[in-house]
Amino acid sequence: MPGKSKGKIILAVGLPGSGKSTYFARRGIQPLSTDALRLWLLDDETDQSHAAYIFGTLRNLLKIRLKLGRRVTYLDATNLGPVERRPFFRIAKHYGYDVEAIFFDVPFEICCRRNRTRPHPVPQHAMERMAKKLIPPAAEEGFSRIRVVKTSGLRSAGQSKLL
Ligand SMILES: Nc1ncnc2c1ncn2[C@@H]1O[C@H](COP(=O)(O)OP(=O)(O)OP(=O)(O)O)[C@@H](O)[C@H]1O
Ligand SMILES: [Mg+2]
Repeated sequence: MPGKSKGKIILAVGLPGSGKSTYFARRGIQPLSTDALRLWLLDDETDQSHAAYIFGTLRNLLKIRLKLGRRVTYLDATNLGPVERRPFFRIAKHYGYDVEAIFFDVPFEICCRRNRTRPHPVPQHAMERMAKKLIPPAAEEGFSRIRVVKTSGLRSAGQSKLL
């Protein structure tokens, strides 16, 4: 039926350390995840090589979920800018789905601090490169809904707020 959405694709948007995976885990959500694919395909979730395989596999898994009629699919990846996000709009349109965003609007310093405490931190120069690439999701890209998850101030982890 034209115009009627079959469901939605929900893109996380946020820097490393902005809390994307934690947000999903706390809600018992199993997103499609580039880090999980890196682990499965490259044995290392921090390995940034073979991007074409990683993102190609992500898109293929998404397409299969949509073909199977899954109503909601979450994507856990940084999805930093419109160029990275555009393929998901193309797929959504083809299969008749809406696209939503959850923007993890967390100050760069907090992302860096959380990143440093992780077992395999993203190198600081890569954090800076990614921060420059980050463009918040905008309705003009085609999102039917944009949610924002904020972390209040430069305080301790315990003071962070999750929506
Ligand atoms: N709301 C929060 N308050 C405090 N600490 C948090 C919060 N969310 C995540 N963290 C911590 O920050 C670190 C990074 O979080 P997480 O792995 O969820 O980030 P990510 O956005 O998935 O990063 P990546 O893009 O690298 O996968 C973890 O150590 C996590 O425990
Ligand atoms: Mg993550």
